Amino acid sequence: MTGDSLALHGGSPAVTARWQQDWPYVGPEEISSVTRLLESRVLSIYDRSGIVADFEDAFASYHSTDGMPPFALSHNSGTSSLHAAYFGLGLGPGDEVIVPTYTFLATVTPLLQVGATPVFADLDPVSLTVDPDAVRSRISPRTRAIVVTHMWGHPADMASLVALSTRHRLPLVEDCSHAHGATVDGRKVGTFGTVGCFSLEGHKALAAGEGGILITRSREVYERALMLGHFGRRAKDEVLDDSLRRFVDTGFGHKYRMHPLAAAIALEQLKRLDDRNERRRVNLEALSGVLAPVPGVHPPRTASGMTRGGWYGYKPRYAAHELGGLPLARFMTALRAEGVQVKKPGSPPLHGLPLFRMTRSIGRDLALPWAETLAASEPPLWECPTADEVYPQLMSLPTFSGDCSTVIAQYGEAFAKVTARWRELM
Ligand SMILES: Cc1ncc(COP(=O)(O)O)c(C=O)c1O
Repeated sequence: MTGDSLALHGGSPAVTARWQQDWPYVGPEEISSVTRLLESRVLSIYDRSGIVADFEDAFASYHSTDGMPPFALSHNSGTSSLHAAYFGLGLGPGDEVIVPTYTFLATVTPLLQVGATPVFADLDPVSLTVDPDAVRSRISPRTRAIVVTHMWGHPADMASLVALSTRHRLPLVEDCSHAHGATVDGRKVGTFGTVGCFSLEGHKALAAGEGGILITRSREVYERALMLGHFGRRAKDEVLDDSLRRFVDTGFGHKYRMHPLAAAIALEQLKRLDDRNERRRVNLEALSGVLAPVPGVHPPRTASGMTRGGWYGYKPRYAAHELGGLPLARFMTALRAEGVQVKKPGSPPLHGLPLFRMTRSIGRDLALPWAETLAASEPPLWECPTADEVYPQLMSLPTFSGDCSTVIAQYGEAFAKVTARWRELM
């Protein structure tokens, strides 16, 4: 195959296998569970009962540590679970919260809703998760919490980050939206910090369609989180704190309940999560195996003692200097002609985005309710040089699910073919 001309120059494409991304999984169990619920006409659940309680119980028990399940609070999205987590921790105006610059924007945007100030920290270039040294360098007298994302399923360096949060008495929030079921030394992500939040959106390892859930061992955080988005019957049944109880009828302003149909799907998905994660791991490690010898391409590596769980994205790094400086865009064009589904990843580092570079006067002009919590003039420019360097080098390949051994082998051939002939692309 590598003897052929490049498909870009009229040769035959290396990837000929027909394959279909088997994701999200929707099997007979999901369908019958949703059908049963539809037939029962239970389409909204106000308290902690029925399918919502079943899902929360199962999710909590999946995250038990020392035989003890955490509190679990389901939501209508991962974003709302993060909002509830930040509210649960009592974060507000004047509070700085250290966040990874390399994460999906919804890890950070709910901080704006509570009026806190995100402070961006750089990434570790191998794991693509937040660098604990960068977090340490951002701690100030105004810091009130640390947030980490287990990016593309790779757990952050929890040993260092937990040590940091303990030493500085800062609560730690884990955004586990890419990493359902990922582990560090056998312990599941989401159980290290004060709160763990998970998106259950339709492409995630645990897909509810739309949904989210948070877990915490803190009754205080749980009750406050509950007050934000689960007013009325559920708050009445569960909130014990005297200072909160008199507000249970109204809650504190949002309705974040999970749709029962989403809970039904999520409950079925949870039963197969470990198995599906394992199948994806086998595929993506096979993909790394065929890419490892290819010059210019550095497949993702998983640190020892860690498992990725969800493996929400597969993002190898491109090293142009190994291919004579061939631009990534040109390299990807040649790969696409070979039939490789390759693109630039979404989710650019956040620290340079206009939303996080906004000043108070722009916020006022746009009537943003949180304008007053923004910096009056130029906001601080949080430098994250490693993210600036690494992000433009990342490529995105499919997170192969199901039986993909033929197509994975052909991806290896396509990469080998293009890299063997890179001079023809200059
Ligand atoms: C890391 C991360 N955090 C939060 C979210 C937000 O979740 P949702 O889309 O369910 O609101 C996502 C969604 O993609 C995500 O990837």
